[in-house]
Amino acid sequence: MDKQINGKAKEIPYNIVLIGFMGVGKSTVAKTLHTRLGMKIMEMDEEISRREGISIPEIFETRGETYFRNLETELLAQLQDENGYVISCGGGAPLRKTNVDLMKKNGKVVLLTALPETIWHRVQENHERPLLENNKTAAHIERLMSQRQEKYQAAADFTVNTDNKTEKEICDEILEKLQII
Ligand code: S3P
Repeated sequence: MDKQINGKAKEIPYNIVLIGFMGVGKSTVAKTLHTRLGMKIMEMDEEISRREGISIPEIFETRGETYFRNLETELLAQLQDENGYVISCGGGAPLRKTNVDLMKKNGKVVLLTALPETIWHRVQENHERPLLENNKTAAHIERLMSQRQEKYQAAADFTVNTDNKTEKEICDEILEKLQII
């Protein structure tokens, strides 16, 4: 661990909020930032699943998408007065204006991007994403991504592309843009 970065990051008086399409690497990057900076971590899907006691696909199936979306809003509302968190948001969280307002209250919002082909490779073996489960093709990913693009960009303070980059390179880029290093 880089002690100098770690020492400095403890003073971060805001949250780092990672948004972007499924499979773009939000959870992995959040874990790396958590380890490197000693920030608290909130993986939204994991927390929602823990609170409900069932998996994300089970929440979608038995309680419906709107129920899940309301849980996202509730969790973001609980985090708005916190600081020092790196928050990994579910891919759909920035689609609601209320959620974006909550993220921005005390957070720097970082949009992670990747090409549809990159996402396709990353999500192939995963069965935890109900919105991709029955149509895991690059074309479907591209379509859904382009429908969301405008809202993702409007929510973001800045964007970092993740194609062909290591976790360290992605984190360095985020920290440079936040002027932490
Ligand atoms: C979703 C993304 C998922 C999860 C749910 C819905 C979306 O999170 O919240 O399956 O609408 O994009 P990840 O982006 O972490 O896969």
